[in-house]
Amino acid sequence: MSGINALILAAGKGTRMISNIPKVLHPICFKPMLWYIITAAQPVSEQQILVVGYGKEQVEDYLNEKFKSDHLTTVFQKQQLGTGHAVKCAKEKLTREHTLVLLGDTPLITEEELKDLVDSHINKDATGTILTVVVDNPERYGRIKRDSDGVVEEIIEETDASSEEKRISEINTGIMIFKTKALLSALEKLDASNNQGEYYLTDVINVLYNKGESILGRSTDKVYRLQGINDRSELAKAEKRMRLEINHQYMQQGVTIQDPDNTYIEPGVSIEEDTTIYPNTVLKGDTRIESFCRLGPDVEIKDSIIGEGTQVEKSKIDSSSLEKHVSIGPYSQIRPTSYIGQDVKIGNFVEVKNSTMGKGSKANHLAYIGDADIGSNVNLGAGTVIVNYDGVRKYRTVIEDNAFVGCNSNLIAPIRIKRKSFVAAGSTITEEVPENSLAIARAKQVNKQDWVLKKKQTET
Ligand code: UD1
Ligand code: CA
Repeated sequence: MSGINALILAAGKGTRMISNIPKVLHPICFKPMLWYIITAAQPVSEQQILVVGYGKEQVEDYLNEKFKSDHLTTVFQKQQLGTGHAVKCAKEKLTREHTLVLLGDTPLITEEELKDLVDSHINKDATGTILTVVVDNPERYGRIKRDSDGVVEEIIEETDASSEEKRISEINTGIMIFKTKALLSALEKLDASNNQGEYYLTDVINVLYNKGESILGRSTDKVYRLQGINDRSELAKAEKRMRLEINHQYMQQGVTIQDPDNTYIEPGVSIEEDTTIYPNTVLKGDTRIESFCRLGPDVEIKDSIIGEGTQVEKSKIDSSSLEKHVSIGPYSQIRPTSYIGQDVKIGNFVEVKNSTMGKGSKANHLAYIGDADIGSNVNLGAGTVIVNYDGVRKYRTVIEDNAFVGCNSNLIAPIRIKRKSFVAAGSTITEEVPENSLAIARAKQVNKQDWVLKKKQTET
């Protein structure tokens, strides 16, 4: 929306998190809190300004990596002297008519909620509009004090509240919008004469009220999305609610989730209808799941594409692409960057890394497939190991269409097993295997007739 700065306060250490990581980088459903707040703020503001302080470099690295936007800038607050002081640090950048203040530790506010707040503020021509919520347990929050006409006159912080004020259950979510000029002039009047010795942004409310400016309190019922995250218990609560909300959205789109409490999906993952997800499944990053897949239990998939009708059980897939009707698991791993063709079957205890497998190929049990290009309809027997690494370099292996590799074979890379050839079980293959041929590379069996009987004789 034009004429609006979004100012996100994120300089605090988050003392109660007991952490070396800045609070806003702690994740909820695999994305840092900061991602949520910026994503919600972008559509409702022309420019986003982030006040950084504790862990500045870490926060800026994250922004540079994930948000390349000319409209997003940071301001440094060297010492965290309070939310009012944080806003003041950004005053040079507050060039738009209105300033929407957001808190980095209240990340689950939605874009819609922000839009409603901004619209109401502008339509009612208010000087300031505060987003408030009524909660069962207002402890720790600033309380909204209204005058006899119901107009918001003051916000009183928990530590400064009388016992009567503490009973007020309408709280400050910390999200507010002001006419920028009025905000900046009110900030000049703040002092830190309170029990925390901080410059409270919330004190501007009373300054503006005393000037006769119109301050509106707009309440919402989206309680959980507006709770501050100050410690790891609150983080876990937010995570759980967010998880259920995400899962609910997928269910609305036709995905069956057997146990939504125990299914973990990062926002942005795409899942098509009629896919079924069993418990303890984790879907992360840039992942797309097509329809009629069956995933889980105990599956983790990251940055991958899973084709229609594919099944994955108790296995892990990272940065790979699977075609239709593939079957993986239990207990297998597809590591970056692999391509698994249609109808491939990968059974138990198989590791695939940086390899391709053509249509209909199989590795049903106990195999290592590293740096290999495998054609279609290839069968890799139990215990097939591609020996891709000599301790210094890695080499590629090619196994052409319709080849059959017998159990317990070592294929020493670089090597090529040509079309329709067979490798006898127990072979250690060091040379190319020609088309249509059988390669046997193992010690010949020797049977020593009556060896046991003779041994007994010498013993007695
Ligand atoms: C704040 C509000 C309180 C509100 C609550 C909602 C004030 C004084 N109090 O309290 O009324 O009910 O949020 O969750 O505003 N920050 C800075 N620089 C600072 C201090 C804080 O950037 O100098 C940032 C923090 O990183 C954090 C946010 O501002 O993201 C809120 O600070 P916090 O200390 O958590 O405020 P609360 O005590 O929760
Ligand atoms: Ca807080």
